[in-house]
Amino acid sequence: MPDLRTTWMGLSLPTPVVLGASPLAHDVEAVAAAVAAGAGAVVMYSLFEEQVVNEQMAAHHFIDARMDADAEAAGFLPDVDVFSLGAEPYLAQLQRLKERVAVPVIASLNGVTPGGWTEYARACEVRGADALELNLYDVVTSAEENAHRVEERQLEVVHAVVHAVDIPVTVKIGPAYTSVPAFVRRLKAAGAAGVTLFNRFYQPDVDLETLGVDRRLKLSTPAELPQRLHALAVLSPTAAVALACTGGVHSGHDAAKALLCGAHVVQVTSAVLQHGPGQLRPIVDGLRAWLAETGYVSSDEARGVLAMGSTRDASVWERLNYVRMLDGWRMERVPRG
Ligand SMILES: Cc1cc2nc3c(=O)[nH]c(=O)nc-3n(C[C@H](O)[C@H](O)[C@H](O)COP(=O)(O)O)c2cc1C
Repeated sequence: MPDLRTTWMGLSLPTPVVLGASPLAHDVEAVAAAVAAGAGAVVMYSLFEEQVVNEQMAAHHFIDARMDADAEAAGFLPDVDVFSLGAEPYLAQLQRLKERVAVPVIASLNGVTPGGWTEYARACEVRGADALELNLYDVVTSAEENAHRVEERQLEVVHAVVHAVDIPVTVKIGPAYTSVPAFVRRLKAAGAAGVTLFNRFYQPDVDLETLGVDRRLKLSTPAELPQRLHALAVLSPTAAVALACTGGVHSGHDAAKALLCGAHVVQVTSAVLQHGPGQLRPIVDGLRAWLAETGYVSSDEARGVLAMGSTRDASVWERLNYVRMLDGWRMERVPRG
């Protein structure tokens, strides 16, 4: 049977199939079930910049209110532990997960503006996180901040987080950079040990009945995987960071595709939210079975086999292939009428 053990950002994992960030990590036993089903590591749901900033604001308001109300008593106020106002439940859950499962637990921070909230990276490390995933979920709506400045701001956050901790940091990004390879190179220079590709943007739809916006979250389908495969294949030969694939992995074959394109690990979220933590078992078994049928002795051996630098015809990943694909479309396929 092929060996699925691997390393991701220096961490040893029993399998390359990782439980992706989601509310499932609120439930310790559900996470334990995912690990029993083959999860090689666990990513927690995110601690959001807004949560932390709000609690810091709340702490200030609390202190200010007490000061105003009773200036004399202010000197006796205990140091307000801002963690107790909001981040503490997150850190406590992290600790519970660490105590319950033997695989690495990755804490997730989610934010895009530099500031005091990045100090929580250190708190996650102290409470046992084996690594951090920093999610740069950015929604740029202003024409005032150009692409360069957006990237500079994001890199400042990465730099602050990376330098607050000794554990590895993987940066979860969206696909909307003019040059993903150039940005990933800058992430590496800022100290990132890995990148996680890609955030899914929860695009609100327009509801024509109510003339409102439908914000219901839809789970992914495997149709989202090819965009990740392309980025993995392009980045894998040169990026020199650990590559995690998130988005559209629903089966062992999906996992195999991502590894072939250069992923160190795949993260699975929607499939688990849809079918439960036990759904990781058919994914892990399916990956193992495919590797065995194809003659690979390990998942590491399959990694990057189809990446840009390894495949016989690199142009399958380049612009030329787009031209070929369009040219290959036959008008006979278009129904008449
Ligand atoms: C309900 C739900 C909650 C999520 N919460 C987080 C989160 O807290 N932090 C994060 O980085 N990603 C979060 N994600 C994104 C997932 O981790 C993952 O990147 C995305 O769903 C794509 O993977 P999938 O196709 O396996 O679902 C969430 C996704 C869903 C569906």
